[in-house]
Amino acid sequence: MQFSIETSGLLAPQTATSYTEPERRPNPRRRSLGTQVRTDCAIVPVFAGRRLGASGNALDALLDGALTAALDRGDLGDAANSVLLIPGNLAIQRVVLVATVAMADDHGSAATKGKPKRKSLAADATEDNAPVDSPITERGFQEVCKAAFRAACGTGAQSVLSFLAEVAVGPHAARAIEWNVQIQVTSVRDLIYRFDRLRSKREERREPGSIAIAVTPADATAATESLRCSIAIADGVALARDLGNLPGNFCTPSVLADEAKALAKKSGLKVQILDRKQMEALRMGSFLAVAQGSDEPPKLIVLEWRGGEKGAAPIALVGKGVTFDSGGISLKPGEAMDEMKYDMSGASAVLGTMSAAATMKLPLNIVAVIPATENMPSGGAIKPGDIVTSMSGQTIEILNTDAEGRLILCDALTYVARFEPSTVIDLATLTGACVIALGHHHSGLFSKDDALAQDLLRAGQDTLDTCWRMPLDDEYQEQLKSPFADMANIGGRPGGSITAACFLARFAKGYAWAHLDIAGTAWKSGAAKGSTGRPVPMLTRFLMDRAQAQVEHAPADVKGKKPQPKKRASRAAE
Ligand code: BES
Ligand code: MN
Ligand code: ZN
Repeated sequence: MQFSIETSGLLAPQTATSYTEPERRPNPRRRSLGTQVRTDCAIVPVFAGRRLGASGNALDALLDGALTAALDRGDLGDAANSVLLIPGNLAIQRVVLVATVAMADDHGSAATKGKPKRKSLAADATEDNAPVDSPITERGFQEVCKAAFRAACGTGAQSVLSFLAEVAVGPHAARAIEWNVQIQVTSVRDLIYRFDRLRSKREERREPGSIAIAVTPADATAATESLRCSIAIADGVALARDLGNLPGNFCTPSVLADEAKALAKKSGLKVQILDRKQMEALRMGSFLAVAQGSDEPPKLIVLEWRGGEKGAAPIALVGKGVTFDSGGISLKPGEAMDEMKYDMSGASAVLGTMSAAATMKLPLNIVAVIPATENMPSGGAIKPGDIVTSMSGQTIEILNTDAEGRLILCDALTYVARFEPSTVIDLATLTGACVIALGHHHSGLFSKDDALAQDLLRAGQDTLDTCWRMPLDDEYQEQLKSPFADMANIGGRPGGSITAACFLARFAKGYAWAHLDIAGTAWKSGAAKGSTGRPVPMLTRFLMDRAQAQVEHAPADVKGKKPQPKKRASRAAE
């Protein structure tokens, strides 16, 4: 699927921008409206009171009032996100109208009468035909995008032209065009994602070949830049979802390592795969203890993106890569045990994020470390009560072999210190307790570093891939006391996600550190079972923000440097 930005609002699709072009001013003679709009399916927002915005009014004129006629008949449902498919003509073959708010809402009345909050998309927009609505919420906009693109993609349309950039979003309509484009792109890609490679027959796919996002000429440059980043993020999410959905008999530690090598080759990353022998030499006694019950050899995957200054401290990402978690000798109950194939979602999200960061050529140094293993019961497996020595030298009494994530992560957190990272973020489907605490909406965020926590929270809000800060006080460390070793690997049921984080904290020394427990957000259960690719959007945004901040705080002589995506001469589309 190809995405493009259409700069001239209602003018023809052939005016899509390219990177080499400066901002394009619409030809004044064409302003009197795009008689040449061509698309298989236009997506048009409808505002409170069943009113059309500038794009809708213009299309309505081109279609002899078909849109207003349908609205007047009441064909569009009352609820927000209602959609209505209207047949068009030869040039504009269909129109999907989408309700941006509940149509009964009084948003458009008294209080909000006045100037439009966003610049209209139509070249000849006047105050009369521009929307005068209150902005909708970020989540609301995402729902609108999903509903509208689902309707459009479900038709036979090969090309789709979206006017959803016309919708004002967020408090004070603060969401910029970059944000709007990103939500549109990621919504479409989430929608059309399928995992059917293991079916003998693939379902026939009905999806458009191209999606154009219409923006005002003034927004074109920013939108085009955002499109590139958004596609990189969507690709990273898709990679994470694919790996997550792959079952344990396909996605072994060795396969994960091969995937990392393939990614490295494709994206210009440095890659190193450590095997059991090398890890023994490093004295990773805790990681290897988990791996000893499995016939599949463990791998420690190390990836490096060197886009930053030589010698600049890297940001490190550490991802839990348990390709199947049976619980080990502390065997899990059978119900939903299949979902423990997702226990490598931290690893897959790290790979997805590295992919996005490399595609964008972020001017940062980034290191990824992934301990990959199965957690299986066998005659050679660790037993409750076993004591192991971690790479840090600290000893651990393994009271429950199902608390294996922290046992592999602790050695990875010790290992990553050799890269002298400024910041380390680990991602792990670590505890069922985190799902009990936060459900499936927010990832759990644990950090003693307020600035780092704030940056992650913000990145989550900006991508609708949110996390929620949890406590990490030293008081909880008490629960990890062991009569025989430096610590136990479990802290009892109270605050289970917090004591797990406290365990990791004992190993995360010498750098700013945050832990993300993604047990509740990395996949969905039930009818829509599948990997979500979270938190790739949040993490990528965090890295983009770090790259941006670095440019802003750089000495004057390097300030001219662009923070992200180096411009290419080629087209914006995928
Ligand atoms: N991978 C699981 C955590 C998990 C469980 C994630 C269910 C999502 C859904 C982890 O390895 C685990 O088994 N944790 C135990 C820890 C306990 C033994 C202290 C748990 O949460 O039950
Ligand atoms: Mn487990
Ligand atoms: Zn696990």
